[in-house]
Amino acid sequence: MSEALEYLVAARPEAMRAYFRFLREAGKHLDPRTRALISIITKVAAQTDDGFRQYIARGLQAGLTANEILDGLLMAFPALGLTKITWAMDILLAMDIPEFRLESMNAQPGRWHRVAAIADLPARGVRRLACDDRELFVTCHDLEFQVLDSRCPHQVTNIPELALQGDRLVCPRHGWVFDIASGACVEKGDRPLRRFESRTEEGSLLAYW
Ligand code: FES
Repeated sequence: MSEALEYLVAARPEAMRAYFRFLREAGKHLDPRTRALISIITKVAAQTDDGFRQYIARGLQAGLTANEILDGLLMAFPALGLTKITWAMDILLAMDIPEFRLESMNAQPGRWHRVAAIADLPARGVRRLACDDRELFVTCHDLEFQVLDSRCPHQVTNIPELALQGDRLVCPRHGWVFDIASGACVEKGDRPLRRFESRTEEGSLLAYW
């Protein structure tokens, strides 16, 4: 939630509760993907940068593909117009989200990726790695591995290695704090880091996305 909304919730709690209830009720017959897509389009119509970034993250978490989001924006062209759509594209390009890169959009979705040789990973600890189109935090504990996305679930910020503070990962953009052992968000936010399915095979750690 933005600081402005937090202020209004504190200053006018009843009015704001009614507003949020209205939003929930208004979309209650829609599935999460459709709700997210409509929310993305409304953020482009209003040209709210933070809201657009936030709902792109939510849409991807709800299972929307980059192609579906682009289709939604292009279908809204008669209402949005070219200027607002290019405004949105400029933000998407600046965010550099793996799903929106042209090579990813044209690739077959879902395959196993070789993340690292197990011999190159620490027995215990965290390693930040780049693998194909993504950056990852890999946690290692006696040959038990967990592969987490480096992208923040709030607004898809690519969280750098420097954000690691012991067993906590602090997103530099708005300060959401994650427990690196589980990926859970433990402060400020309410959604965990994305965790990729992983397995070991022939001395390598593999992850699926
Ligand atoms: S993008 Fe907002 S806390 Fe990470």
